[in-house]
Amino acid sequence: MIKNDLFLRALKGETVERPPVWMMRQAGRYLPEFQEIKTKYDFFTRCQTPELASEITVQPIRRYGMDAAILFSDILVIPQAMNIDVEMKPGVGPWLPDPIRSIEQLDSVIVPDINDTLGYVMDAIKMTKEKLNDEIPLIGFAGSPWTILCYCVQGQGSKNFDIAKEFCFTKPAAAHALLQKITDTTILYLKEKVKAGVNAVQVFDSWGGMLSPVDYQEFSWNYIQQIIDALKNEIPVIAFGKGCWFALGDMAKSGASALGVDWTCSPRNARYLSGGNITLQGNFDPTRLFSPPVEIKRMVTEMIDAFGKDKYIVNLGHGILPNIPLENAGAFIEAVKEYKAER
Ligand code: CP3
Repeated sequence: MIKNDLFLRALKGETVERPPVWMMRQAGRYLPEFQEIKTKYDFFTRCQTPELASEITVQPIRRYGMDAAILFSDILVIPQAMNIDVEMKPGVGPWLPDPIRSIEQLDSVIVPDINDTLGYVMDAIKMTKEKLNDEIPLIGFAGSPWTILCYCVQGQGSKNFDIAKEFCFTKPAAAHALLQKITDTTILYLKEKVKAGVNAVQVFDSWGGMLSPVDYQEFSWNYIQQIIDALKNEIPVIAFGKGCWFALGDMAKSGASALGVDWTCSPRNARYLSGGNITLQGNFDPTRLFSPPVEIKRMVTEMIDAFGKDKYIVNLGHGILPNIPLENAGAFIEAVKEYKAER
């Protein structure tokens, strides 16, 4: 039994006193205690060392008391496990020295044994669960197959992922073969995370909004749906697609427990597009955390009023930025905890 189960209740659509709150990328660079660990250990060492990953996971909880923790890791541990080299270059971000550009390269891309390749993630989950002591739920996550393909083919972050899209549109058979291998791996991975003890999983389709609605169906949503189908009877699944408001209708029928929304879609429109019945999560503009704390609190209250306190999880519309003042992140969380529906 989890003591603070607001987040799990919101995922079930139950009536709550106030909505739960967490922040995408809450375990990260805006925290000085994170920066301190970062000076001593490189990125994948932090991911691969359960003591470090679990410590980083609980850092934001200790400071702010969010209603859910998200495991410190990265979506790119999946391609690594599939035999694709992934580096994290300081100042550049994800860097793949040998990106996938042909169908021949897929021969060496494997659907791995999860415990052999990603057992460290399961150890980090178990250690984190011990540290959390059943106070709040723990979220596990994976990237969407499309978002993972973006990095595997482009080889690094990009404003438009043009090489990844060119690959899909000129070599669709290769693209689908790669997407299917990523999907199969992701399903096995998330099932192991469930066994290790996570209480919900989120699929991050950070670059879904790069695709047209028609291409989104073919290259992204079909694969996310496979993941939801495989997981939905075991654990609540949150589907977050950045820029994917056009797909909210299909997403609402998918069996996901909640849908993430970014700040380019109003709460009212998100409720309308998703049919009004499914739990929504979001959608504060991450750069709005630069506003003075009093303004943040007012905007958060208005956001909750607009979504409604039930069937709602307060979050940002994408990850928190590294240079957000600590006090401002605190104001975001506090505003939710102080929320009163009757005023
Ligand atoms: O608090 C949390 O959300 C948990 C940890 C988490 C990280 N990455 C840690 C991280 C999560 C959920 C992710 C997901 C992730 N990783 C996504 C999807 C979510 C999103 O924000 O769109 C994506 C696209 C990635 C790929 C990735 N990893 C990028 C683009 C970067 C940033 C590169 C940079 O330096 O700007 C990373 C590195 C990364 N992952 C960092 C953290 C805290 C920062 C680098 C570091 O700590 O050295």
